[in-house]
Amino acid sequence: MSAVSVAPSLLAADFARLESEIERVEAAGADLLHLDIMDGHFVPNLSYGVPVVEAVRRCTRLRLDTHLMLADPGAYLEAFARAGADSLTVHVEIEADPAPLLAEIGRLGLGRGLAVNPGTPVDPLLPHLESLDLLLVMSVEPGFGGQSFMPGVLDKVRALRTVLTERRLEVPIEIDGGVGPGNAGDCRAAGATWLVAGSSVFGARDPAEAIRRIRGSERQATLLPPGPSVR
Ligand code: DX5
Ligand code: ZN
Repeated sequence: MSAVSVAPSLLAADFARLESEIERVEAAGADLLHLDIMDGHFVPNLSYGVPVVEAVRRCTRLRLDTHLMLADPGAYLEAFARAGADSLTVHVEIEADPAPLLAEIGRLGLGRGLAVNPGTPVDPLLPHLESLDLLLVMSVEPGFGGQSFMPGVLDKVRALRTVLTERRLEVPIEIDGGVGPGNAGDCRAAGATWLVAGSSVFGARDPAEAIRRIRGSERQATLLPPGPSVR
């Protein structure tokens, strides 16, 4: 199983100081940077879009793990690719069939991610597992940072990890929402390998200590240049 990675979510950063906030978590040992894109339709909130991703790309060599909470992500895949995203994650709950979107993300040379909300069962994910580089399990209702972790979703993480193992697929399971040092061990034990952490890292007095405790170990990997694959 791949090493655990911690992905601070920029949503919890001070937006007036994005560059220094990114430097702060990079220096603290972040493995990836999680970018939450919201459209006010798929979720009842707006965050930021392509120009911000492009600006973030100029500030860091961390991989940009880009979570598209968009009702119509297909219209923006190419723009986010051009802006410098390394992976693009779409939601299984959207109206469109995710299969062509995942194929398009792959054609753009980016990691293909599929996300699932807390209330959605695993079944709609199952036909897509062979076409994925990343599976994102939401542990809060998407739309806002700083919410409480929903421990019930760990059953879904365990179920997905079992299916992936049965199918001999090495797809990281990312868990997103309310993750911090207090529940990261449960997430890792359930089979999550990418841990998104917004408030618990950006809000920490010592982000390096928070990241170490969330990861459960010292950093394994060295900083990688942006690349076409998230594996
Ligand atoms: C919620 C976002 C999360 C969020 C995580 O819609 O997808 O990535 O920013 O933030 P925390 O860790 O504060 O819950
Ligand atoms: Zn997210």
